Amino acid sequence: MTETLILRELIAAEPGWVSGGAMAAKLGVSRVSVWHQMEKLRAQGFSFEAQPARGYRLSGRPGMLHAGLVEAQLKIRRKGFTFAVLDEVDSTNDECARQLAAGKTAPFAIFAQKQTKGRGRFGRVWHSAAKGNLYCSFAFRPRIAPERMQTFTLWMGVTICELVSKFVPVLPGVKWPNDIVFGARKAGGMLTEARVDADEIRDMVFGLGLNVNSPASDWPSELSRRAVSLSELAGVPIDLNRLTAALIGRVLLAYERFTDGDHVDLFAELWNKHDVLRGREVTLVEGTRKRRGKVLGVDDVGSLLLRDDHGHTRGFRAGEVTVEKDA
Ligand code: BTN
Repeated sequence: MTETLILRELIAAEPGWVSGGAMAAKLGVSRVSVWHQMEKLRAQGFSFEAQPARGYRLSGRPGMLHAGLVEAQLKIRRKGFTFAVLDEVDSTNDECARQLAAGKTAPFAIFAQKQTKGRGRFGRVWHSAAKGNLYCSFAFRPRIAPERMQTFTLWMGVTICELVSKFVPVLPGVKWPNDIVFGARKAGGMLTEARVDADEIRDMVFGLGLNVNSPASDWPSELSRRAVSLSELAGVPIDLNRLTAALIGRVLLAYERFTDGDHVDLFAELWNKHDVLRGREVTLVEGTRKRRGKVLGVDDVGSLLLRDDHGHTRGFRAGEVTVEKDA
């Protein structure tokens, strides 16, 4: 798309200038067409400086997610991968599931400025207002055994932590099985869902909600003490489009490593780095049952390893963890 190519040229030249003529020649379009595209981009929240002798320079970007700007900042463009940015959707996970069911080629991703029925684990609501946060889902057709889904989410958790650590000055943590946290405050959550045939995953959706630019005062009051956004931690607004481009690169690479079985050593290293539960006394609520114990880590199917007061260690596949006290 010409729009993306223009943005790519302007970003590559930053903070310098690009002449309209050079851009037109490089893209094989007329100068008038370049000018038209730039007017369109202006209407979408971009600003450009223009000087007859030097050409154009990017001077402002939209704060909201912009597909062309994300595309222009992708470092590697993976063959066959597509993504869309929607103004509004019920849930990006549900939209991916519908498109998978309709036969769309995977992998692909859906991003939304807001969700009207954002979902979390246990059917909880995921607040998804249009406040410059990230609501997205990636759709895959992995042909892996269903038992591997749990480790997939954990692996994605550390992948997201590594990405986020490039944008904030504090080490992000992952709280088994699906929370991205900073201390006791949650910055993001993951929701992996799959349709399973007999012994193989038919398709799988990895959903991520990340509090990027919402101020704490924007959360519903019951959440504001437990939620945090990346911009609060960074002390400045986060460039959502740059974050999204980097996220796409990392998620696709992590997915390839996972399906190749190439992630195991790195996973162990990164889980140790970001795991906030190891060594903690916790309560795990599993349906109506409560188990207390000390967290020893995770096993190779992603179960949480708890050692009880009698010294017995058991792995748990599901449940919600509350930290009781420091070890
Ligand atoms: C959780 O912490 O319980 C998981 C939250 C997952 C929220 C994301 S937002 C994008 C995607 N679409 C949804 O409806 N949910 C996930």
